[in-house]
Amino acid sequence: MSDVSNAIESVLHEDRKFPPSPEFAAHAHISSEKQYQDMWQRAKDDPAGFWGELALSELEWFKPFDKALEGTMPENKWFTGGRINVSYNCLDRHLKTWRKNKAAIIWEGEPGDTRTLTYQQLHHEVCKFARVLDKLGIKAGDRVTLYMPMIPELAIAMLACARVGATHSIIFGGFSADAITDRNHDAQSKLIVTADGGWRRGKEITLKDKVDASLEGGKSPSVEKVVVVRRTGSDVDMVEGRDLWWHDLMDNADADREATPLDSEHPLFILYTSGSTGKPKGVLHTTAGYLLGVTMTSRWVFDLKDEDTYWCTADIGWVTGHSYIVYGPLSNGATTMMYEGAPNWPDYGRFWDMIERHKVNIFYTAPTAIRAFVKWGDEWPQQHDLSSLRLLGTVGEPINPEAWMWYHRTIGGERCPVVDTWWQTETGGILISSLAGVTDEKPGYAAWPLPGVQPVLLTADGKEIAENEVEGLLAIKFPWPSIIRTTYGDHGRCRQTYFSNYKGYYFTGDGARRDAEGRYRIIGRVDDVINVSGHRFGTAEIENAINESEWVVESAVVGFPHDIKGQGIYAYVIAEKHVDDPDKARADILATVTKVIGPIAKPDKIQFVSGLPKTRSGKIMRRILRKVAENELNSLGDTSTLLDPAVVDEIKAGRV
Ligand code: WTA
Repeated sequence: MSDVSNAIESVLHEDRKFPPSPEFAAHAHISSEKQYQDMWQRAKDDPAGFWGELALSELEWFKPFDKALEGTMPENKWFTGGRINVSYNCLDRHLKTWRKNKAAIIWEGEPGDTRTLTYQQLHHEVCKFARVLDKLGIKAGDRVTLYMPMIPELAIAMLACARVGATHSIIFGGFSADAITDRNHDAQSKLIVTADGGWRRGKEITLKDKVDASLEGGKSPSVEKVVVVRRTGSDVDMVEGRDLWWHDLMDNADADREATPLDSEHPLFILYTSGSTGKPKGVLHTTAGYLLGVTMTSRWVFDLKDEDTYWCTADIGWVTGHSYIVYGPLSNGATTMMYEGAPNWPDYGRFWDMIERHKVNIFYTAPTAIRAFVKWGDEWPQQHDLSSLRLLGTVGEPINPEAWMWYHRTIGGERCPVVDTWWQTETGGILISSLAGVTDEKPGYAAWPLPGVQPVLLTADGKEIAENEVEGLLAIKFPWPSIIRTTYGDHGRCRQTYFSNYKGYYFTGDGARRDAEGRYRIIGRVDDVINVSGHRFGTAEIENAINESEWVVESAVVGFPHDIKGQGIYAYVIAEKHVDDPDKARADILATVTKVIGPIAKPDKIQFVSGLPKTRSGKIMRRILRKVAENELNSLGDTSTLLDPAVVDEIKAGRV
C-alpha cells in the first residue's frame, strides 16, 4: 500500500465542498440526501425486492422473471425465468411513445459530416442488420467481433447482435492484428464486422488491413465471414467468399426483424480487459441485470431527462462506451451523441465547438482529457458558448483536484455539478459516484455508493475496516445486477481473480480512502495494472510483448506519474547482447509492442539495465522499480533481501 500513500497526499487535506444548487436538486431524479439514503437502505435490506420492482417498472419483459436474485457471487443469477431483449428495450418500446421521432443518436464524424438517427430510423437499421446476421447464419449464442471506428454502424451492429442474441465482442480500434487474433480465438467468433478505416487527427486509421492480418494463414478458423463498412473510401482487399460489403447486404435486407426473447442471463457481450496476470480476459455481461444496471445508473447519475442532449466522449471499444453511449442512454430513450475523432482536430476547441453547436447539456469525459484541455489553455473553451451544459462527469482514473476545479470553473461555469463516477469493466455500470442533486461534492472524491452497492475497505489480510478517515483495499460485499458473470471460457479464472483473495467479496483491485463522512476517494490500482489515459494494461501483458523483440532477454514494466496520461509506462529492459545501438533496440521494442498489442501500449520510457532487482527466490521487487521510475530515489526501502543489491545503484544511475 506504500505507493497508495503517496498518491493520496494531495487529497488528504482537500476540504473544499460544493453543495448542489437548490434549483438543480429541485428537478433531479434523486433530489435529496434523505431520498438517496432511503433508497440505499431499502436496497441493502431487501436487494431482491428493490431491484425486482425496478426491473418490472423500468424494463419491458416478454415473460416476467420468477426470482430477482438467486445464488451468491460469482454464481449469482438475476431475474431467473424471465425473457427479455436489450434491443427491444433500447428501441421498440420507445416507438410506442412520442419518442419515435426523437433523435436517438446524433453522430458527428471527424471531417465534420453529421448524421442523426431517430429511434424509428435506428430501429429500421438495426432490424435490417439483424436480418443480415440471420442470413449469415448467426444464431443466438454465437460470438460476433466488432472492430470498428466510432460510426453509427457500430451502435447498429451492437443492437442487431443483441436483437438476435449474438454475443458481441468489441475490440478497440487501437489494438493490433495480433490482439484481434487472440481475442477472436478466445471468443471463437464466427463473424467480424469492421470498416475500411476511420478518421483520427485528420488521418485515416485503417482497420480492414488489420483484420486481414489477424486472419492470415488460417489463424482464426472460427471466423467465417467479414462484413466491411465503407467509411473512408480507401482501397481494401476483399477476399472472395469471405468478405462482404455492409451496404450490399443492407440493400437487400428486410426491416421487419422481431427481437428474440432471450433468457435474462443470456450472454450480451464479452469485453476483453487486462489484469495482473496473463492475457486479457473476456469479461462477460448478460442481458437483464446489465440492462437494468445501466438503465438506472444512467438516470440516477447523469440525471437524464427527455429534453437532454447527452454526450459521453469515450470510445465504444471500452466499457464506458458500451454502457454510457449506447445501452444506458438508449434504454432511457435519451438523445446520445457520438463523435468519431480526436479532441484536438482541426483545433483544440473541437469539443467546445461541438457542445456549442449541438447544445449539449450533459458532458462525460475522462481526467486525462481534462488535463490535456488545461494544458491547451483556457482560450479554447472561452471562444465558445457552453451555457447549454448543466451537468459534467468524469470516469476512468482518479481526478486530481486541480483538474476537477478547472473543469468545474472553466467548463461548468461554476454552475454545473461534477459527478466523479467510479466503476470498472467488470462492474458493468457505475457503482460509486457523487449525485448531482444530493452530494456536497469534494474534488477528487467519487463519494457515495449508489443504491444497491455495498463497498467496504479491507486490510491486506482481509479484515473489514469500520472506521472513517482510513485507506484500504476496495471490495464490494453484495452482488449488484450488472456484476461480471464470468471470464469467457474460464470460470475458474473469474473466481480466482476477483473472488478468491477475500472470501465473500468482489475484490476491485483498487485502493481507496474514506473521509470522515464516508465519501470514497479512489486512489488507484494496487495490483499490477497500469492505467494509461484511462486505458487498462497489465504489466505482464506489456512485458510479454516487449520480450518478443529479438533484442530483449527480460523486462519489467511499472507505471509512473504522468502529467497528462495519469500514468505512463516505464520499461526496464535487459538487452540480448551489450546494446551497441540503443536507438535501434528501442525502436524495435516499440515496433514489437505495437505489433503485439497496439500503439496505445508503447512504453513512454525504456531503460536498458544489466540486471533486475530480484529476491533470492527470483521475484522482481517492483516496489524498487516503481520508486526509481517515480524519481523517489531516497525512499527505496529495504533492499537487503535482494540477490544482488548492486544492481539498484546501476538502475538509479541510469534512470531515464
Ligand atoms: C479506474 C472504466 C478513480 C480504477 C470504467 C478502476 C477510476 C479502473 C475511476 C477500471 C474514478 C475508473 N476514479 N479511478 N472515477 N473510474 N477508475 O475497466 O482504477 O477500463 O479499477 O473501466 O479504472 O477501468 P476500466
